[in-house]
Amino acid sequence: MKKIRAALLGATGAVGQRYINMLDRHPFITLEVLMGGESAGKKYGQAVHWLFPDAIPERFAEAQVRTARPESAEGCDVVFSALPSEVASEIEQDFAKAGFTLVSEASSHRMDPDVPLMIPEINPGHLELLEAQKKARGWKGAIATTPNCTVTGLAIVMTPLLDNFAAEKAIVTTMQALSGAGYPGVPSLAITENVIPYIKNEEEKVAKEAKKILGAVKGGAIVPHELPIGISCNRVPVIDGHTETLYAEFPKAVKPDQVARVLERFSGLPQKLRLPTAPERPIIVRRENDRPQPRLDRMSGSVPGMSVVVGRVRNGIDERSLQLTLLSHNTIRGAAGTAILTAELMQKEGYIG
Ligand SMILES: NC(=O)c1ccc[n+]([C@@H]2O[C@H](COP(=O)([O-])OP(=O)(O)OC[C@H]3O[C@@H](n4cnc5c(N)ncnc54)[C@H](OP(=O)(O)O)[C@@H]3O)[C@@H](O)[C@H]2O)c1
Repeated sequence: MKKIRAALLGATGAVGQRYINMLDRHPFITLEVLMGGESAGKKYGQAVHWLFPDAIPERFAEAQVRTARPESAEGCDVVFSALPSEVASEIEQDFAKAGFTLVSEASSHRMDPDVPLMIPEINPGHLELLEAQKKARGWKGAIATTPNCTVTGLAIVMTPLLDNFAAEKAIVTTMQALSGAGYPGVPSLAITENVIPYIKNEEEKVAKEAKKILGAVKGGAIVPHELPIGISCNRVPVIDGHTETLYAEFPKAVKPDQVARVLERFSGLPQKLRLPTAPERPIIVRRENDRPQPRLDRMSGSVPGMSVVVGRVRNGIDERSLQLTLLSHNTIRGAAGTAILTAELMQKEGYIG
């Protein structure tokens, strides 16, 4: 596999650190440039508030954080962006105009009609939007995005439910981890011994993004899926791992055992291509009554944190409805992991490198 040289915007943030953690020993993506805001000019090890138990890998600790400008990433094949959405729009466009291909976590460009919103197991074909985007915008580079961390697990589980059982409706309640709000995130006095039943803009984002990911490319843009999705988002005192309960309805009776077997057999192009960040099983089904749990299950699977763990698969109010609980790691499957998997697919399909 040809080596890819990568740069990272937002390297000191909660998601940026996850990239460093995941790319440290990547077989063909070499992270060469770290960029930041206030930390630009400092050594990474001095600028970052490191959140992992293991020490910062030495080559990164000693690296200088560069200014978030295209010149800083010269020679790189791909730029990962973990910037806050408030600043991402302009900075990312500057990089794309300068000829870089970006994979972004920020929400700024996710809903642009010519920008792919990627979960490689679900919509690898959406990458074809990149060429239309370059043409329409007159850019030498392009922007691909990955979804909000709450969407990822939900969209992965909905795909086999739509493809095999023609799900007609989804109602979701989330219990979202603190790291989803970045660092330092939610004040300890607000969340300790508490649940907060509101996350600004989150419910609108989850429904819109899920429909785009599940949609189809037509005429250089995405036609969103029509699935009605109702959603309530809650912040809970868990460090990592978003838990969601899903209620879905179907045109015909569904058998929970059969659904569970279909979910655990689900796989996509990344598994077929054996991409390094693709888990053998995108969905793991637990049969115990009290799983999944964030502390026990968030690092499950062949690539820790990349599988969505599902449990409590059962009928809902009647035999045409189903309820289940799903868990996905928000900074791995919900952020850096899906972006790295997208870059691996882009390399394989000739979009970068
Ligand atoms: N946390 C999650 O679970 C999650 C999941 C999916 C997507 N996301 C998205 O990922 C992005 C990053 O989230 P996060 O939680 O990692 O945020 P964060 O912890 O607040 O980190 C923000 C990063 O952006 C940099 N930055 C801020 N302003 C900048 C500027 N003007 N120019 C250049 N760099 C700037 C900061 O660098 P300095 O420290 O040097 O200022 C820092 O490295 C957001 O768009 C978020 O919505 C997060």
